[in-house]
Amino acid sequence: MHELKGKVAVVTGGASGMGLAFAHRFVAAGMKVVLGDIETAALDEAVNGLHDVGAEVLGVRCDVSDATSVHDLARATNESFGAAHVVCLNAGVATAGALNEQSLADWEWVLGVNLMGIVHGLDAFLPGLIDRNEGHVVVTASVAGHTAYPTLGPYSATKHAAVAIAETLYNELTSSGSQVGATALCPGFVDTRIFDSDRNRPEHLAVRLPEPESAEEQMMRAAFLEMIATEAPKPHTVADLVHDAILNGTFWVFTDELHLESIGHRHTEIVEQRNPTEIRSIAENALD
Ligand SMILES: NC(=O)c1ccc[n+]([C@@H]2O[C@H](COP(=O)([O-])OP(=O)(O)OC[C@H]3O[C@@H](n4cnc5c(N)ncnc54)[C@H](O)[C@@H]3O)[C@@H](O)[C@H]2O)c1
Repeated sequence: MHELKGKVAVVTGGASGMGLAFAHRFVAAGMKVVLGDIETAALDEAVNGLHDVGAEVLGVRCDVSDATSVHDLARATNESFGAAHVVCLNAGVATAGALNEQSLADWEWVLGVNLMGIVHGLDAFLPGLIDRNEGHVVVTASVAGHTAYPTLGPYSATKHAAVAIAETLYNELTSSGSQVGATALCPGFVDTRIFDSDRNRPEHLAVRLPEPESAEEQMMRAAFLEMIATEAPKPHTVADLVHDAILNGTFWVFTDELHLESIGHRHTEIVEQRNPTEIRSIAENALD
C-alpha cells in the first residue's frame, strides 16, 4: 500500500500490547481503526484512549476462536467505516510447560486463538481484499514460529503455522499479481501482557491450578518479568516497524536480532540433517 490516510484498519487483539500500539500508529497515519478483542474492560479503555487522541475508532467484542464472532467483526467494520484495507491478525495467548504437562485444554485454547483466529480472520476478510485488489494482511507470528524451545510446545506449533500461513499467502498474492500485501511479524520478547494470558482463558478450558511454585521458580519468574519490563522493546517500536512494512511491502519483520543466530543454526541443522543441538527454554536463555 502506498497511502494509509483515510483507509480502514482492523486489529484483532487490539485492546492491549502490540495490537493497541498498531491502532495508535495507524491513527497517527490518518486511518480509521476497528479493534476486535475478547477483553471488554481493556477494549473500552483502549477505545476511550483512542477517542482522546481524536481517532475514528470502533471497538467490537470479538472472540477470534469463534468464526461467527470474526464474521461479525467484519460486518461491524463494513457498517461503520466501509471495507477494511489493513487487517492485523494479532490476537494471541500463551501457555508454558513441557509437552507432558500441557493438557488438551491448553492445546485447544492456544490453537483456537492463535491458529484458528488467523484462519477465521482470513475467511472473513481475505476474499474482500482480493476482490478489491488493495490492502495488506499482517499476521503476528513470533520467533517461536522459527524455533522449538522447550516448554513452548502448543505456542510454537501455532506460531510455526502462522509463519506458514503468512508465507503461503504472500506467495499466492505475488504469483497472482495481486496488489494485496502480506507481512509476517515475528517478534522476540516485547513488553506486553502476553505473560498474563490466562486472564482471557475461557472457563470451559480452565485447567487445574498448577503445584505452587518453588522459591527458585518464583525468583526466576520475577527476574524474567523484570527483564521484560526493563529490557524488552516497547509495543510502539513494533508498531513503527509494522507501519513501515505495510508501506514498503516488507514480508519478514523481526523486532530484534537476538534469535536470528539460533534460527540460522536450526536451518543449517535441518539442511545437514543433524540432530537438534540441546537448547534451554527461551526464558532461561533470556536471563543469561
Ligand atoms: N509479547 C511478546 O513477547 C510476543 C512475542 C512474540 C509474539 N507475540 C504475539 O503478539 C501478539 C499480541 O500479543 P501481545 O504480546 O501484545 O500480548 P497482550 O496480551 O498484551 O495482547 C494480546 C491481546 O489478545 C487479546 N485476546 C486474547 N484472546 C483473545 C480471543 N480469543 N479473541 C480476541 N482477542 C483475544 C487479549 O485480550 C489482548 O488484548 C500475540 O499473537 C502474541 O503471541 C508476543
